[in-house]
Order: sequence, then structure tokens, then C-alpha cells
Amino acid sequence: MPTTLTQTDKARALAARFDPEGAARGAESFAPGGVSIEDIAERYGTPFYLYSGEMIVERVRRVRAALGGDVEVTYSLKANPNLAVCQLIARERLTGAEVASSGELVVARAAGFAPEDIVFAGPAKTNDALRRAVDEGILAVNVESLNEIERLAAVAQGAGKKIGVGLRVNPAQQLMGSQMRMGGTVGQFGIDHADLAEAVRRVLNHSDHLVLRGIHVYTATQVFDVDALLEHCRNIFEVALETADLAGKPLEVVDFGGGFGVPYFEKMEEFDLERFGAGYAELLASYRADPRLEGCRFVFELGRYLVADAGLYVTRVVDVKGMKGKTFATTDGGMNHHLTATGNMGQVFRKAYPLLNLSLMGEVPDGEAGVAVAGPCCTPLDLFGNNIPLAEPSPGDLIGVFYSGAYGYSASNLGFLSHPTPAEVLVWRGEAHLLRPAGRPEDVLEGQEALA
Ligand SMILES: Cc1ncc(COP(=O)(O)O)c(C=O)c1O
Repeated sequence: MPTTLTQTDKARALAARFDPEGAARGAESFAPGGVSIEDIAERYGTPFYLYSGEMIVERVRRVRAALGGDVEVTYSLKANPNLAVCQLIARERLTGAEVASSGELVVARAAGFAPEDIVFAGPAKTNDALRRAVDEGILAVNVESLNEIERLAAVAQGAGKKIGVGLRVNPAQQLMGSQMRMGGTVGQFGIDHADLAEAVRRVLNHSDHLVLRGIHVYTATQVFDVDALLEHCRNIFEVALETADLAGKPLEVVDFGGGFGVPYFEKMEEFDLERFGAGYAELLASYRADPRLEGCRFVFELGRYLVADAGLYVTRVVDVKGMKGKTFATTDGGMNHHLTATGNMGQVFRKAYPLLNLSLMGEVPDGEAGVAVAGPCCTPLDLFGNNIPLAEPSPGDLIGVFYSGAYGYSASNLGFLSHPTPAEVLVWRGEAHLLRPAGRPEDVLEGQEALA
């Protein structure tokens, strides 16, 4: 049964998963995957993102086990498109991939995902992007508008090929209990449910070049309410049956989206994966025998839930000062490297992530006021939090921002203020691997043409 933990307890629980042996010994130093955090910082420089290979693999296996063998999972690369992270997931052979751009398609292929396990979703796919998907022969392009069906058909015809199509449906019902909605509302995502018949007609009309695979409904992220999600899945089954009726044939794929939540902030509890898995299995059993779903694949696409907990952003305290009774620690990285942890990717993320002073693991924070931790960008928005319960920081200490494996590096404004980009490091099987070196100040000139 999930319990509500304080932010410090969450950080400590996550730290113990990065460094189980250290936690078991009650070690005062932090050694993710058995490698000292100070050594990693020394070797690769701060700030850096650190990913745990073991935690990624463990999470992928747990999700597959909880959802059961009849259900498939695709990894949404937008959460973390780092090549090695994607390779670890692809090598498990337990998931496909969901991409939202040609760049993500390139990574997915390089990571080892087979074309027939890749779907491509997202608004404003250009003809070039559609062409690449057609050339790769991916399982389905999840189209977001009636017009996109026509463009995809024209692109496939031009290439002399056939391509699978998923209709991304924007259903009439909202998914309640989530924190950011992309469906059940008026917006750029998906085809209005009211246009479903027309969408099916158009796909079938282009049967020389398009194959209707099924439907895709992704309406929300950060979902915690299991019952609301199950009700949402029931609605999706109904839309699937309606689509099969319109098509006059069984569907090959029903993609339920997902959006399982990660409890970044205080008072948030873990998404109850096992309860959802059991509820979904019951729901599936009640629809499974319907001939309109004969042979159908049932898919969830998950981003943050697979990788968020396996990532840690590490930044060094540069300065500490007191002002009117408040302690400020300023760090060498901030919103430029980790936009979401500073609450700048929308109102949803306005509170503090779980943070720890990794250099003082043995110390318990004292004082009610907490510490303000601010990054190096010249804006008050560059703040990890105002009242963070942190063991008293000194210049040189390493601060760890947990739950940083998703929407971190790739979701940040890395060019803002022209600070060097952070390194990315993986701990895997007891060793630290540099996945991407830190940038250098000179990099800001790279690719720019000076005036003659
Ligand atoms: C179509 C689609 N699929 C999957 C995801 C991944 O969501 P999450 O990281 O919450 O699992 C998103 C997120 O925006 C999305 O738009």
C-alpha cells in the first residue's frame, strides 16, 4: 500500500536504491552503483546527470510484470532520449518505442528498437518526418488530424510504400485525476472524436498506401488516480469497438497512452502500479473475447514512469550566504540544465523536487526554515526551492536533485546564459560510464558564423 513520505524521506529512499550497499551500512558517503559520487564529480566535472542502469532495468521489468503478458509497453523517448538509456531499455526486449520526432526515431533505431516496434505520435509532423517514418517501415504513424492522413498517404504513395496508421483520438471525456491534460479538451492533440468516422473513411480510402492499425488515446500525464484511469481505459475500449465497426474489421492495436505519475512533490504518493495492473487485467478480460478486438495488441506508452526515479542531477554549491535569516546556497547548475526541477515547465511543476546534500549524507537537516537552493541563471525563476530541508550546505558540497531521469537534460534550455552543458553519466554494473562529456565555455561559438 503506498504511503506518503516527506521529501527528505523520498530522497533518502531513492538514494538507497542508487547505493543499496552504502544505505545498508549506514554509510556517511554516497556511492551510486558502488562508485563514490565525489570521484564521479572529480572525473567528469559538475554539474552532471547520473543515471542508474540497474534502476532503469528494474523499473521496466516491474512494469511489464504488473501489466501482465497480454499488454505491451512502448517507451516514450521524449522523457529521456539519451542513447545508452534507450539501449538499456531496448535490450530488455520488453518494450517498443514511441517517438515524437525524426531525431527520436534516429535514436530509437540506433538504440536497437525494431521498426515494427516503433510508433510515431505528436502534432506538426512535417512531410520530411513522415517520409522518414515511411522509409523505416515503422508499426504506425499516429495521426493527429484529418489533414495528416492525406499528407501521410501522399508521402507513402510518393515512396511507393504502405504504412500503418493509428488514429490519435481526442475523446469526449476528460481523464480526471491527472495534472496535465492533452485530451477531452479543445487542443492541438488528436482527432476530435466527432470526426472519427471521417478519419476511418479517409484511411480506408487510401488502402493502397495506408493500413489502419487502430487507435491511440493519450490524454494526460502525471496520473495517480487508478480508478479514474481504469474508467478512462474503459472509454478507450468503447472507442476502439466503435472504430472497428466503422472500419468493418478488427483492430490490430489499441494504444491507451498511460501517463502514470511520479510523486515528485510533497503529499504525492506513488502511483499504485500493481492495483492498476490487476484492474486493467479484469477490464481486458471483459473485452478480450469481442471479435472486433481479435488478435489485437494492447499498448501503454510510458515515459517518466520508466526513467524518472533512475536519474539524479548533481550540482555543486558555489556560494552560501545568509540574508535576513534565510540561507541561500547557489549552485553551478540550475534551470538551464534542469528546467522542470526549477518549476519552469508549467504550473504543474511549481514545487521542489526531493533534494539531498550528498556530501553530508550522515547529517539530518536542522531548522524549520530550510535552505533556498538557486542556480546560476540571472532570474528569480532559477530556484530549486525556497525551503529545502537540507543538511547545512557549504561551498563545494554536492547537491543531488532526485527524480531527474525524465524531462531533464533534453527538456532544458541548455543554451540559456551560455553556461557549459552538463555531463551525462551512467552507473551500471559497478562502474561509471561517461555517456556525454560536459560542455566547455568555448562551445558557445560552435556552429556560429562570425561576421567577415
Ligand atoms: C503522446 C504522448 N505519449 C507519451 C507521453 C509520455 O508521457 P509520460 O512521460 O507522462 O509518461 C507523452 C507526454 O507528453 C505524450 O504526449
